[in-house]
Amino acid sequence: MEERVLGRTGRMVSVVGLGTWQLGADWGEVSDDESRAVLEASLEAGVNFFDTADVYGDGRSEQALGRFLADHEGEGITVATKMGRRADQVPENYVLPHFREWTDRSRRNLGVDRLDLVQLHCPPTAVYSDDEVYDALDTLVADGVTAAYGVSVETVDEALTAIARPGVATVQIILNAFRHKPLEQVLPAASEAGVGIIARVPLASGLLSGRYTKDTTFAENDHRTFNRSGEAFDVGETFSGVPFDTGVEAAARFTEIAGGLTQDLTAAQAALAWVWQRAGVSTVIPGARNPEQARLNAAAGSASSLGPLFTSKVRDLYDELVREHVHDRW
Ligand SMILES: NC(=O)c1ccc[n+]([C@@H]2O[C@H](COP(=O)([O-])OP(=O)(O)OC[C@H]3O[C@@H](n4cnc5c(N)ncnc54)[C@H](OP(=O)(O)O)[C@@H]3O)[C@@H](O)[C@H]2O)c1
Repeated sequence: MEERVLGRTGRMVSVVGLGTWQLGADWGEVSDDESRAVLEASLEAGVNFFDTADVYGDGRSEQALGRFLADHEGEGITVATKMGRRADQVPENYVLPHFREWTDRSRRNLGVDRLDLVQLHCPPTAVYSDDEVYDALDTLVADGVTAAYGVSVETVDEALTAIARPGVATVQIILNAFRHKPLEQVLPAASEAGVGIIARVPLASGLLSGRYTKDTTFAENDHRTFNRSGEAFDVGETFSGVPFDTGVEAAARFTEIAGGLTQDLTAAQAALAWVWQRAGVSTVIPGARNPEQARLNAAAGSASSLGPLFTSKVRDLYDELVREHVHDRW
């Protein structure tokens, strides 16, 4: 699988990584055995970048990664975690004593002295413009608590504000066939500044696999049930903010495009290839709930170029069905 430099971390990471929210909670049940199998299958298939957060299963995802890391020392794995959502998301909470407390807990969960990368986990917008926040993050690096820091953002404006800061190594943002706005300014600005782009929710929470119908239901403890309208967190994190029925229709069209123009790629794989083949993307981090999904996703990291016709058809689909729901919101 192709590898790229992850922005200012200077680390080489696989173009397809793994998101591990599923290995914590909020996606129905994923057992510890299944979770371990997902991690092993990913690594075996060439994935060396793993994204987690202190809040995923309140530490369960980080702990699963910690056990996995202990068995794969020296194998070039990079783990990015996130902090800031175990407390109220108010600007007053984004201060050095909390950063120390949160990163100490993540280091314990992951079983490491120094984190590879810690990201602010979608903080309030004002946080991105606060000099003291960046001073505190620089202190974490100077103290050896983390090798680098980045931000996970909701909007392109937040991304652009963060990219302008010299210490920001990476920006994590939603980018997928149903989310095109980061292509306009964020990706070029990140490339120019040498900031890494971690593209999340690449399958629009699974929609882009084309597997769901308008009648599909999800478990009660799955955010695709309980956050349909943003009841628990930003609605953009569930199905990329696209209304479910529209998403199903758009996914059927995406599946048709993928079937017609790619050879041997599933719709999910084509969706992932579309993301990592956008200039400026460092890595794309699909979530997987079983080893089979993990293997298929990793294989998308060696897909050949999708080509301009594919790209223009995806753009048309976005303009016709999806743009009005998302483009000016995030
Ligand atoms: N605020 C933040 O910073 C933030 C927010 C959201 C996500 N993230 C990160 O981004 C990662 C990725 O986003 P996400 O997990 O929310 O969404 P996603 O990657 O767009 O979708 C994941 C879902 O897609 C389906 N899927 C995965 N591989 C598949 C395959 N090969 N074939 C068919 N279906 C497949 C599975 O659905 P089923 O469960 O139906 O099988 C899986 O649960 C997360 O795990 C997390 O690390 C960060």
